[in-house]
Amino acid sequence: MTGFPVVRMRRLRQNPTIRGMLTEVTLESRHLILPIFVCPGEGECRPIPSFPGVSHWSVDMLPKIAGPAIRNGVKAFLLFGLPTYKDEDGTSAFDKGQPVQRALEFLRKNYPDAVLIADTCMCEYTSHGHCGHLSSDGSVDNDATLELLSKVALSQAAAGAHVIAPSDMMDGRVAAIRSALDGEGFSGVGVMSYAAKHASAFYGPFRDAAGSAPSFGDRRGYQLPSANPREILRDALMDVDEGADILIVKPAVPYLDIAAKLRARTDLPMAGYVVSGEYMLLHSAISAGALERARGLIEYHTAVRRAGCDLVITYFATELAELLGRAGGAAEK
Ligand code: PBG
Repeated sequence: MTGFPVVRMRRLRQNPTIRGMLTEVTLESRHLILPIFVCPGEGECRPIPSFPGVSHWSVDMLPKIAGPAIRNGVKAFLLFGLPTYKDEDGTSAFDKGQPVQRALEFLRKNYPDAVLIADTCMCEYTSHGHCGHLSSDGSVDNDATLELLSKVALSQAAAGAHVIAPSDMMDGRVAAIRSALDGEGFSGVGVMSYAAKHASAFYGPFRDAAGSAPSFGDRRGYQLPSANPREILRDALMDVDEGADILIVKPAVPYLDIAAKLRARTDLPMAGYVVSGEYMLLHSAISAGALERARGLIEYHTAVRRAGCDLVITYFATELAELLGRAGGAAEK
């Protein structure tokens, strides 16, 4: 007989030590990636009003955000930039004097053990806020954008990025970036692609922070339709064939079904991106006293790991790493 009363599940649950020994999914500081917004200027640490707790940092101030992260065991940063100029084709994205490239050089020199990931996209750099070169009908021209993205990736690799993270959602961008990198001697630089990046309402605070909201229309012509799980999987798995090293699912928790399905279809490492809108949901609930901070944050981010993601990109990375350090690295206490 395999059921109750012979089997009693609570035998393994009642004793806290046994419970701890049998923990299946852990969340540790080594799993976390911290996004950072880098701005021009000096001495800048400017809070972003619509994104409380997150700031714009000038390059010279980066130790103030990178230092505490690293001290708590966070190993990797995902860099976004605010350029000093924007134009139709977002050419500041591949200008080596701009914040992301300068930050890469600075961090590479000052934090040689940190893993530097560069978000590769055009929307922060184009005057119209779309993620690529516009055709005359106002849509984004896929193949012309691939050339721009390749230039961005090369400029980021030259500045010191270990990993290129294309977030534009053009077809064929992973292959294009991979061959551009290989062609210029950057075969050791990885590609972490936003394989399942959905057209989502959860990017609001980020677009304020990055100044990247489209000036007309929306991104549904290139980002994934959230109601089409089969299409999402087809698109994401194409990145595997094109040579991606790590896949990103974004947003994270509203799309954990996608993460779990992808986990069953590929052995590539995966990251879930807890995006700005998810950050605000948690932040607001904590501020309202509706969610207990430590337990709430740990449970939410552990769910991303349980769905099959190896890594979690989150604006809470340092805070979480600190909490996890205190909790002895366990997923739950
Ligand atoms: C842009 C990009 C976006 C995010 C990261 N890179 C948003 C967008 O499509 O506008 C969102 C991140 C977040 O909301 O935290 N290519």
